[in-house]
Amino acid sequence: MKLFKAFNPKEKLAGLVTVPPDKSIAQRSIILSGIAHGISTINNFPLAVDPQSTLKVMQSLGVQVQNYTNQTDKLSLQVHGKGMSGLKEAEDILDCGNSGTCFRLMMGLLAGNPNKHFAVLTGDQSLRKRPMKRVSEALNQLGADIWGRNGSNYAPIALKGKRLNGGSIKTPIPSAQLKSSLLLAGLNCNDKLSIEEPEPSRNHSELMLKQFGAKIEQHNEIKTTIWASELKACEINIPGDISSAAFILAATLIVPESKVTIQQVGLNSTRSGILNVLKKMGADISVEINKSSSYEPFGDITVKHSPLRGIEISGSIIPNIIDELPILSLLASQASGQTIIKDAAELRIKESDRLKTMAQVLKSLGITVEELPDGMVIDGCAGKPFNPIDDTFDSYHDHRIAMTVGIASLFCTKDINLIGHEWADISFPGFFNLLKSLLCE
Ligand code: S3P
Repeated sequence: MKLFKAFNPKEKLAGLVTVPPDKSIAQRSIILSGIAHGISTINNFPLAVDPQSTLKVMQSLGVQVQNYTNQTDKLSLQVHGKGMSGLKEAEDILDCGNSGTCFRLMMGLLAGNPNKHFAVLTGDQSLRKRPMKRVSEALNQLGADIWGRNGSNYAPIALKGKRLNGGSIKTPIPSAQLKSSLLLAGLNCNDKLSIEEPEPSRNHSELMLKQFGAKIEQHNEIKTTIWASELKACEINIPGDISSAAFILAATLIVPESKVTIQQVGLNSTRSGILNVLKKMGADISVEINKSSSYEPFGDITVKHSPLRGIEISGSIIPNIIDELPILSLLASQASGQTIIKDAAELRIKESDRLKTMAQVLKSLGITVEELPDGMVIDGCAGKPFNPIDDTFDSYHDHRIAMTVGIASLFCTKDINLIGHEWADISFPGFFNLLKSLLCE
């Protein structure tokens, strides 16, 4: 349990920070370099628990990795890839921990492994409750052999790899995890594989597959075709995670007189929707794109405390900001007027049911909120400090809820406690210390 002191009106946030490396990009980088031919270098690999789970899974499949820390304390990896055929059959169950990305991407990689290896994937208590049918059904359409509880819906999931058929798949939901799983399977399919989504989702896999030399064509934002390809080692630089930066943006926007710059944040347009949404709410944000940006753009974001207004957040922007919605809902509670979030039922199957858990957090903070089947309606308190009706909050075993409560605590009229603050380490180790380091009088 962690105690947060009540808001001190003399304190504000100020300074220059970096946030942890992007976990979506990191997880893809270790998977692709593991199945490429040759030695890849990954600069700025995260220490967060989720990417470390993916790293361990790849090591259990025989991928050799050397790590070293450079002068700026960043972790770099040298990954000795031996091609898909160099993967070994894992001796034990593969533990994806809390990471849905690790689990779903590994399903595609292992189901489509032409070496016919057997594998069992599992995860922690939260991951074992998250639906995997969306992936197993799509892979089954390509001829995959997959077994698991509730019609291959829940971990543990067993798979026997084989060369899958190609074809065309229309996914029922926009999900980068599902799409990426299929793209990984597509690397070894008999025929080309086309994937079409109802709305665009993050495109890190497509961009990185190109870097590794895969034959892949992005027809438009929602349709991609991949052909069987051998990957060649390359160098990947991982920018800061915009989903982690969102918490620092929120803290700065909420606490009066604050101004913070977050350096080297990934600005891929399939992820940076949070900046547009915040600007629409009235946030004073400026972005300086780094001119030497690699294939994944990055830059510095400067944000100042700003009065916010309520807006409607719905439609095709939702997949772009799916991980930012918990912290956005907290910001909405500080806005003037009402915010309506719709089309976000996917939040119910994240690390926690984030519509339910966020509605509970907001209620405990004294905010009026209505939970909808696919969103919520939040009555903003127009920049007044939170006046909590509870003194103990739960993280619900969810890193983004733990961090959202941490941000709320900066602007509360009384002390609050948080159970499970350590869940922040899933994506943002050192989060609470970083926040503290930004506070000054
Ligand atoms: C991710 C995709 C998103 C996101 C998750 C990471 C990825 O999930 O919520 O945190 O790295 O592909 P879905 O694609 O299932 O929406």
